[in-house]
Amino acid sequence: MTIYTVAGGKGGVGKSSVAGELLAGLARAGRKPIGLDLDQQGNFTSWAGVVDETTIYGHTAELLEGEATLQDAATDSPTIPGTSIIVGTHKLSDLTVQDVPDLATGLRDYLRGGTEPWSDVVIDTPPSLAGVTITALVAADIVIAPVSMEREALEQLNRLEEVLRTKVGRRMRPGARIDWVVPTRFRTGGVMAREILEELQQTYGDRLTTPIREDVKVREAYRSPRRPGRPVTIHAPTTRASQDYIEAIGTIIRAGANS
Ligand SMILES: Nc1ncnc2c1ncn2[C@@H]1O[C@H](COP(=O)(O)OP(=O)(O)OP(=O)(O)O)[C@@H](O)[C@H]1O
Ligand SMILES: [Mg+2]
Repeated sequence: MTIYTVAGGKGGVGKSSVAGELLAGLARAGRKPIGLDLDQQGNFTSWAGVVDETTIYGHTAELLEGEATLQDAATDSPTIPGTSIIVGTHKLSDLTVQDVPDLATGLRDYLRGGTEPWSDVVIDTPPSLAGVTITALVAADIVIAPVSMEREALEQLNRLEEVLRTKVGRRMRPGARIDWVVPTRFRTGGVMAREILEELQQTYGDRLTTPIREDVKVREAYRSPRRPGRPVTIHAPTTRASQDYIEAIGTIIRAGANS
């Protein structure tokens, strides 16, 4: 069993898209993954095809509070065959250490007790490096940091590294670090995007996946009023972002299996 946590303090860099693609990629690889949406915005939930009409059995705040098990709270993904999701709701914003004293370590300890019938866990986090994101980083076997191709890309990653070294690594999970950097929304023609990619290559070397190109099909794959959301690799499997995701996610999954 491998626990993958997708994190990065900045908003809108592609965390939830990457989480959705990882869930789909693990299913394609013959695994049976479950997603945990720790963001109250619920975008990972939407990428997994859950809509207002979907019958929900529980949500991630209940899981963190110990009021529901994985099995109680799991919903079969309507659009990613063979996967399940535990939805994120606004109730996540109410969680405090007063109510949940083991907020930082409880999820890790719970998941280590077994995740049957699921083979792997994919956790999406909110655009913050505090609160439930710490919970998810402590629980992780593999930390994945999507990064948008902007000037402050390295700064974003440095902040996450710092949190992993201090808040997570010092006592709760020694050795915690960013395992994978996934460059997102890559514009192939842009000089700046290429410069940033080179910088990332120098710093992260073989921990950098192939970049995911900017592609309108990604936006289109997300839910519309007429249709539930789905990963772009399911919505439009031959489009360029899908090709990139298949390669990037494949690299991450194969490395996980080898370690
Ligand atoms: N490769 C891409 N090409 C075009 N649009 C993309 C691409 N990747 C992501 N997007 C779009 O960027 C927006 C943000 O993506 P996403 O929700 O995955 O980011 P996030 O980091 O989870 O955001 P938040 O911090 O709000 O949770 C979405 O509208 C998504 O459709
Ligand atoms: Mg998100």
